[in-house]
Amino acid sequence: MTYYRTVDGTNNNQNFNATGTDMTRVGDAHFVDGISIPIETVNPRTVSNNVVGEGDANVPNADGLSAFMYSWGQFIDHDLDLVTSDGVNHIDITVPNGDPIFPDGSTIPLTRNVIDPATGAGTDKPAAAINQITGWLDASMVYGSTQAASDSLRLPDGHMKVSDGNNLPIGPDGSMLAGDVRAAENPGLTALQTLFVREHNYQVDQLAALHPDWDGEHLYQEARAIVGAEIANITYTEFLPKLLGDGFLSAYHGFDWTRASPKSLPGRRIALVTALCRTILSGWITLATLSANSWN
Ligand code: HEM
Repeated sequence: MTYYRTVDGTNNNQNFNATGTDMTRVGDAHFVDGISIPIETVNPRTVSNNVVGEGDANVPNADGLSAFMYSWGQFIDHDLDLVTSDGVNHIDITVPNGDPIFPDGSTIPLTRNVIDPATGAGTDKPAAAINQITGWLDASMVYGSTQAASDSLRLPDGHMKVSDGNNLPIGPDGSMLAGDVRAAENPGLTALQTLFVREHNYQVDQLAALHPDWDGEHLYQEARAIVGAEIANITYTEFLPKLLGDGFLSAYHGFDWTRASPKSLPGRRIALVTALCRTILSGWITLATLSANSWN
């Protein structure tokens, strides 16, 4: 048992939610054959247009929410899940005629996720995708989900590496490096990734001033714990109440094993966040993903 979170999410709750383990289900799988054939329900593009249609872009959000609302959703989604598309088994979305953006007859291309070969053979083990990153809300998009990634992003003195201008470090191929490979997906997301690297380094400086005897490892882990707590706090006290409504999440009263099976409690939280990210906040690409992932 270590005092700080492991890099790969192991040892938090057995090896549940660790890097490279199956995506967790909070309920039973719903496949046509009970194994892996997707059920077709409402067209995802219709859902997308109904829930996140652009409307009038000149009308401000009634709650004063900015585009950072969706950026935060994407940011924490990249803390929680990353699956690989198989590139072969198409589940393209047929865009209904009369779409406000796409011409009639359009499709949104999409393929299914890579399935864990140990699943998908029978109804006792329905198909499950493998999560390439930790399934915990643990700031892995900042720090990485493997030891190699984590090591490559940090300096011996406890700071995270940065490039000129205090920005994300740049890899040999010129791409920006962060704990999650999608950090440069769009500028809002990159801004958040950069903000929390800077926040880590700020916390290291504060801690070093307070504790001159701490070594780089101690400073790094303590700053990482603070950053992880900040992200969890923003998510649960600011983001989710705005997304779901104030009364949706009950107050946290500490972990209670008598009310939680080893799997159900964290799984439910994560499924909630991920499903909501996919359905409510994001644009068409993400809704395309919803259909892919909910089917996998
Ligand atoms: C400019 C904005 C965005 C772009 C360009 C984008 C792009 C993408 C792409 C290309 C994928 C992979 C789709 C596939 O499986 O083929 C994806 C996956 C995903 N996106 Fe986004 N996205 C954006 C915003 C968002 C937002 C705002 C959220 C949540 C609030 C989000 C949540 C997700 C999730 C949950 C997945 C599945 C991740 C996985 O487990 O692999 N995305 N996105």
